[in-house]
Amino acid sequence: MTRVFSGIKPTGHVHLGNLLGALIPWVERQDADSIYCVVDLHALTVPQDPDELRGTTLRLAQVLLSLGLDPEVCTLFVQSHVHEHTELAWLMECTASFGELSRMTQFKDKSDKAGRGGFVSGGLFTYPALMAADILLYDADEVPVGDDQRQHVELTRDLAERFNSRYGPTFTVPRATFPSAGARVMDLQEPTAKMSKSDDQAPGTILLLDEPKAIERKIKRAVTDSDGEVRFDVEAKPGVSNLLSILAGVTGRTPEAVAADYERYGPLKADTAAAVVERLAPIQTRYAELAADPAETARLLAVGADRARETAAATLARARDNIGLLPR
Ligand code: TYM
Repeated sequence: MTRVFSGIKPTGHVHLGNLLGALIPWVERQDADSIYCVVDLHALTVPQDPDELRGTTLRLAQVLLSLGLDPEVCTLFVQSHVHEHTELAWLMECTASFGELSRMTQFKDKSDKAGRGGFVSGGLFTYPALMAADILLYDADEVPVGDDQRQHVELTRDLAERFNSRYGPTFTVPRATFPSAGARVMDLQEPTAKMSKSDDQAPGTILLLDEPKAIERKIKRAVTDSDGEVRFDVEAKPGVSNLLSILAGVTGRTPEAVAADYERYGPLKADTAAAVVERLAPIQTRYAELAADPAETARLLAVGADRARETAAATLARARDNIGLLPR
């Protein structure tokens, strides 16, 4: 069987990019060998309000359950409940080079945004080593992610190979997998920038829990272009191509096939909005039910953590042994 691992950070609200890039593929391919994680330690790379972090972590787990992740089928847990992640992260930090970590575009973007003199934590720099540990602990073959995580999974592969060649076979070398549509959902107002969680209030971001009216308004106002031709061409027509990718992602088609159905932007926008609203409606209903019972979510997460720990502990023991740490 193919072992699958992926994670999502509890920061901000889940948006359509998360959904199409990662979460729908997670749900669709879940089986007994799928392991999904709310990576709360990754949220700590920027200062957090403790109450808010607790709330966001729980709510994110509830969103994942309402999307259809079934803890009877797959493993769903919170990263900080399995301490093996932080321990293996140190071995990964010592396997990654300063140069490699410096080249990570997400680090460069985020540290640039903080500006000169702004606070950039050491954790933001070493974050990809923790992400590598997350994946390698579970012997994952595949890591379903959106396009923005491509570089981090590439680094994970390099670290696994380097560790294996230095200390003997220890880790499975994973590969990233991407959806055929929606691997990079762009901001509706600025279609050359990716849709992101930090833009919660932005008119270009569709949140999973947005009301139908808000979704319709945001898609109706999405930036397109003035040549009036419906065609999938990300370079020349980023706004229209983004709408085509969204409609394709939500309906399980390809953007090119969707493009063939439309001649004007108006109907494309109307159908995209209707399809998104229809896809989100049952998720929102289930979320409201789950949100009313946080104790049950906590119970399910505890079961998930117990299951995850079994695999994680075995891999960590192997890594410790191979690198020469004295047995306890
Ligand atoms: P995060 O929490 O930012 O995003 C979760 C998932 O959503 C995808 N995504 C997108 N896909 C398409 N279009 C977008 N605009 C968009 N924005 C986000 C991301 O690619 C991701 O798959 N570092 C990771 C979390 C992580 C992880 C891991 C992932 C930690 N450890 C191990 C995989 C395996 C992150 O910050 O994702």
